[in-house]
Amino acid sequence: MMSKYESAVRPGCGDDIRPKDLDAASHTARACGIARNGSTSRGRIRLGAMCAALAFAAAPVLSFEGDTPKPARTADVVYVATPHDVVDRMLSLAKVNSNDLVYDLGCGDGRVVATAARAHGCRGVGFDINPERVTESRQTVQKYNVADRVAIQQQDIFELDLSPASVITLYLLPRLNVRLIPQLEQLKPGSRIVSHDFDMKGVEPDRVVEMVSKEDGVEHTIYLWTTPLKQQ
Ligand SMILES: C[S@@+](CC[C@H](N)C(=O)[O-])C[C@H]1O[C@@H](n2cnc3c(N)ncnc32)[C@H](O)[C@@H]1O
Repeated sequence: MMSKYESAVRPGCGDDIRPKDLDAASHTARACGIARNGSTSRGRIRLGAMCAALAFAAAPVLSFEGDTPKPARTADVVYVATPHDVVDRMLSLAKVNSNDLVYDLGCGDGRVVATAARAHGCRGVGFDINPERVTESRQTVQKYNVADRVAIQQQDIFELDLSPASVITLYLLPRLNVRLIPQLEQLKPGSRIVSHDFDMKGVEPDRVVEMVSKEDGVEHTIYLWTTPLKQQ
């Protein structure tokens, strides 16, 4: 029998997505709004829609050289925000405290690092490849009044040295989590990694927590790993 995760992501999560899946998925994602309401059973639809919507990450981020727009590195996954109560649970699961340096890889609107700094007194850096997200994140940092402790950088997460961080937060895709393993292995012992909804094939999580978000009414899964990573 297929697991919830497998049934949610097939077809269309990751590399094997087909064009006809994209149309259907786009519709599903919109229909779900990426699911603003509904029951727990919608979690499966939302996760599937999320996977499919994320596969739309084909639109290149533009950079400018002189006056000529030039396609730059393409985002590997589109922007979908983690609901605030799921962010709170991720940070408490990782036991974030004032000694931590939290990196959010693909920071979207910056809510994860800004919340971490405001609620737990830590420092944080959010990284995103998309300049629009970087602008939004910097606005969030101002709004949360944590500019003294949080920086936002426009950078490709696959080019980062993660070793300064003690906590890594992720909301990417399963195959992107796996691609990050060599970088995650450079974290200091005792560092924590939390991922919204997506596992990391080949690495044994310490905890897997499911919760229904009050914000969207659907089920979310949170994975926690602690370094050194344990092979499955
Ligand atoms: C699903 S969103 C998650 C946003 C935020 N972390 C959250 O949980 O609310 C993924 C983000 O990753 C960014 N992204 C995708 N590929 C990236 C890359 N290679 N380097 C940096 N950011 C990337 C996207 O622009 C998007 O904002």
